[in-house]
Amino acid sequence: MENNRGSFGSKLGFLLAAVGSAVGLGNIWGFPYKMGSNGGFAFLLVYLVLAIFVGLAVMVGELFIGRKTGLSPLAAYKKLSKKFTWLGWLALISPFVVLGFYFVLGGIVTRYAVSYLTAIFGWNTWGVPQVTDFFGHFICAGSGMLVWTAIFVAINGIVVAAGVAEGIEKFCKIGMPALFVMLVAVIIYVAVQPGAFDGYKFMFGWNIEPLKEDFLGVLSSAAGQMFFSLSLGMGIMITYGSYLDKKENIQQNSVIIVVCDTLVAILAGMIVMPACFAFLDGNVRGGPGLLFASMQEVFFKMGGIGNLMGFLFYGLVFIAAISSSMSLLEVLISATVDMRTEKKKAPGRKKAVLVWCIIILIISLPVALDGLGSGTAAGCVLDPPAVVFGSANVAGWNDCWLDFYDLISEGILMPLGSAIMAFAIGWIWKLDMVVKECELEGNKFWGKGFFNICFKVITPIGMLFVIYGQITGFFGL
Ligand code: PFF
Repeated sequence: MENNRGSFGSKLGFLLAAVGSAVGLGNIWGFPYKMGSNGGFAFLLVYLVLAIFVGLAVMVGELFIGRKTGLSPLAAYKKLSKKFTWLGWLALISPFVVLGFYFVLGGIVTRYAVSYLTAIFGWNTWGVPQVTDFFGHFICAGSGMLVWTAIFVAINGIVVAAGVAEGIEKFCKIGMPALFVMLVAVIIYVAVQPGAFDGYKFMFGWNIEPLKEDFLGVLSSAAGQMFFSLSLGMGIMITYGSYLDKKENIQQNSVIIVVCDTLVAILAGMIVMPACFAFLDGNVRGGPGLLFASMQEVFFKMGGIGNLMGFLFYGLVFIAAISSSMSLLEVLISATVDMRTEKKKAPGRKKAVLVWCIIILIISLPVALDGLGSGTAAGCVLDPPAVVFGSANVAGWNDCWLDFYDLISEGILMPLGSAIMAFAIGWIWKLDMVVKECELEGNKFWGKGFFNICFKVITPIGMLFVIYGQITGFFGL
């Protein structure tokens, strides 16, 4: 059984793959743009509080469930308690929805990295007269988005088909350190630009005014971002936990994952925010296009060195994106393999990868074809959800399909799934069960009181507020 499912080859391999899953577009694309639109420091503050009081406990909870059962989410919840099998399904729906936009974004990033690479050698592959017009042009050229999404899906498929240790682990062992080096290189370059300091002030200068204006809005946005960024509430860490050796210290691993992920998000902010102040007059409200349209303008304004910096930057975003998308694919693969094993069939890993890659492409279609909300009026193939559903008065549907998928997953399903899991651990299965699993092979569980409060009270109640905030925001109430 263990051989069928595969497992990580080493402790470091597990950690790098888990950190690789957590560190992704959420950190480098989502975190800076949400921080830019939600008041800088105020957002950072709420984010940090949530990561400590909710993220850490949910991370421990998920790794615990995975390691205790040795199974993927559906089978794991069923084994823990038949009554909670549906929670396993909930955990599987989220990756499904996230898949629908993550691979499209990954495709865009791949396109950027490739074009900056060729530009270093003097070969212009942007295909537009003015480089800074590229993003607007590209998102409406449906076939381009689809082709690059397909390329990104194919790269994922090839690595994941190779297996957990041979594919995912090997990739992350090289990719994660490379990402860190590239991140630091770009940070240093941006730091010495005139005007960059205002970006740090925006991020780290005490200012809680935005919280007084719209506390629930900032809270919901930061919470959704936190779950997404830590890959929580969607079975990923349960799946990775199921590959974890009994000797491993679950709490220590959880702290490392949460700290690394948060650090990379802040470091990414320390590129994007100062860059916006140094090159774009402090315009940090570029929304989802911040990483693409705004940053491309930044690299353009850098002059000659812009191509190299652009390549380093999108290269690191590419590594971050693919190590996360692989984990997303892996949840579905391991669930399929587990189901087949249960039915006494051969695991069929490679075939499962192929089938899932095709399904991902199909789910991605609306996101790849609506020009990120520009719609048919702008010459794109598809209209945004508001037009398709004929409900233009619903605030959330006025955005694009990407935002719609994002709201369902990180806005509702992830907080909901995590809140119920925390409730079940705190009140039904009880913390002792977690402590017992964590203390196997001589490890010590610390902070029982802290984790008890996190599981029993803070996560379930806090997340109900978050879901309320997301829904009222979506419907413009
Ligand atoms: N945590 C990843 C990021 O920050 O980009 C995204 C992600 C990967 C979310 C895997 C969810 C997931 F299951």
